[in-house]
Amino acid sequence: MKAGATRRRMVALAAALVGALAVAGAHAQAPIVIKFSHVVANETPKGKASDFFAKRAAELTKGRVKVEVYANSTLYKDKEELEALQLGAVHMLAPSLAKFGPLGVREFEVFDLPFIFDNTAELHKVTQGPVGKLLLAKLEAKGIKGLAFWDNGFKSFSANKALRTPDDFKGLKMRIQSSKVLEAQMRAVGALPQVMAFSEVYQALQTGVVDGTENPHSNLYTQKMHEVQKFVTVSDHGYLGYAVITNKKFWDGLPADVRGQLEQAMKEATDYANRIAQEENDAALEQVKKSGKSQVIVLTPQERLGLKRAMMKAHKEMESRIGKEIIDAVYKETGFDPAKL
Ligand code: LMR
Repeated sequence: MKAGATRRRMVALAAALVGALAVAGAHAQAPIVIKFSHVVANETPKGKASDFFAKRAAELTKGRVKVEVYANSTLYKDKEELEALQLGAVHMLAPSLAKFGPLGVREFEVFDLPFIFDNTAELHKVTQGPVGKLLLAKLEAKGIKGLAFWDNGFKSFSANKALRTPDDFKGLKMRIQSSKVLEAQMRAVGALPQVMAFSEVYQALQTGVVDGTENPHSNLYTQKMHEVQKFVTVSDHGYLGYAVITNKKFWDGLPADVRGQLEQAMKEATDYANRIAQEENDAALEQVKKSGKSQVIVLTPQERLGLKRAMMKAHKEMESRIGKEIIDAVYKETGFDPAKL
């Protein structure tokens, strides 16, 4: 009886020990979870690049890191996600460059200046060069580490009327991202800018809360905006791209080898993002045309110049907000000269 009780106690002890070891083992192997939140569809340049990063992070760290991607604002919307990152509730984001102003880093709004880049090669001189580095470094004071720039592309306008001339914009309520420069751009042609989270745009267009908007074709198509807008104007009037960012404290606290592997995964994801962005946008435009739901207008060079001249006043107006130095640094990289219009 006594021996039986002792045996039972020993079995129970052994079971507890095995359990404890299993928990310890599981802990030793538990992956580092990185929550990566974004607001667009999976089938966009940013959606695909974040999935690519998650896959390469798992491969390069041999499963020590698990990147969980939350697309389409399923975890956080535009404004909330930046707050969540600073609080450490989410670890990685790739907000568009137009969304850093409210964080207090207004220099990023230089990318929103209308017609500042004529093509991707000019843009890359900035994002892949010293000016890009300087901009990312400005985030550190906010507890944020900038890891990379990812392309989306050049924006088109959409509305229920054909937008060709500055006059066509008069009185239209145009949804914009939270950027004062985009506000100035819209006001320059007499439109009424309305800041709104990306997740709310489709419904706002559908119900007439706003009349029109601007975005690269990949965003327009994957959010089905073309189904509730009669016209899409291919204007390439401005750029929309992303800064991939992380919580600095979290990033610096990672084991050095893991951080190195993640940097490699980010480098590969950046090459991938910037390689596919143009194709994705071209394919989306084809789909919009094929759908027959929206009429696609391509501006003539003369029409484009008309818009450019009208919107150019946003450059001067926003100088004190963005900082003349940073605007001049971008002009210098790209060879842009507003006096030569
Ligand atoms: C928008 O709000 O229009 C874009 O910033 C969405 C995105 O992240 O591409």
